[in-house]
Amino acid sequence: MAPTRVFVCGTDTGIGKTVVAGVLACAWGARYWKPIQAGAPDATGQGSPTDSETVAGWIGAAQVLPERYRLARPLSPHLAAREEGIEIALSAFALPPGSGPLVVEGAGGLYTPIGPRAFILDLVAHLALPAVLVSRDRLGAINQTLLSLAALRARGLPVAGVVLTGPAPSGPAPAGAVDPENLRAIERYGEVAVIGRVPWLAELSPRAFGEVYRAFKWPE
Ligand SMILES: Nc1ncnc2c1ncn2[C@@H]1O[C@H](COP(=O)(O)OP(=O)(O)OP(=O)(O)O)[C@@H](O)[C@H]1O
Ligand SMILES: [Mg+2]
Repeated sequence: MAPTRVFVCGTDTGIGKTVVAGVLACAWGARYWKPIQAGAPDATGQGSPTDSETVAGWIGAAQVLPERYRLARPLSPHLAAREEGIEIALSAFALPPGSGPLVVEGAGGLYTPIGPRAFILDLVAHLALPAVLVSRDRLGAINQTLLSLAALRARGLPVAGVVLTGPAPSGPAPAGAVDPENLRAIERYGEVAVIGRVPWLAELSPRAFGEVYRAFKWPE
């Protein structure tokens, strides 16, 4: 059974959390919340769009909750906050009211610092939502995924499952070629379900996400 209220965390930055959050939010008609955004366009609109802006393009701005912290610099949140004279504390975060489907996205990986005394891992614990762990399917994915699972479990946090993204097209491998070995090893050594895989998509759109989500399998 899909939980429909989850914290999407990742093994790293730039590995596909926002894409997976978009897949889940589209499938569930969920609201989306990025509590901490580090890196935002300046007043003239220069710079990459924020994750909230990207997801709003998929699910509509009305379904996207405002960030608790929207920091200008694309740095680790503890640094981006320090540059603005802000100290982020866990007590600043509370789940939005209501019990409907909700997809929360972290920043970076689980040991990404958000303040002098807290990591994203602490935010997952604080918000008390099951974790969906996103990992990019590439060499190194097994190690990164098992370490992240160990971090979640050491804190006793529930893990809904793992989602693999990619691999990104590279070299001579045919487009869409997938080696199932990472998936098998993660399930076996991690004793975890790989709920699904988001292949490298030429177009990131609700239509493409719907097709991807149809192949997801949630543990009983
Ligand atoms: N399955 C995919 N198909 C096509 N493009 C993808 C896929 N997964 C990720 N990307 C692209 O890779 C880049 C990084 O992905 P994404 O923004 O989802 O990472 P992230 O883990 O959310 O990063 P951050 O830590 O900054 O929040 C983006 O440009 C995204 O569009
Ligand atoms: Mg993101």
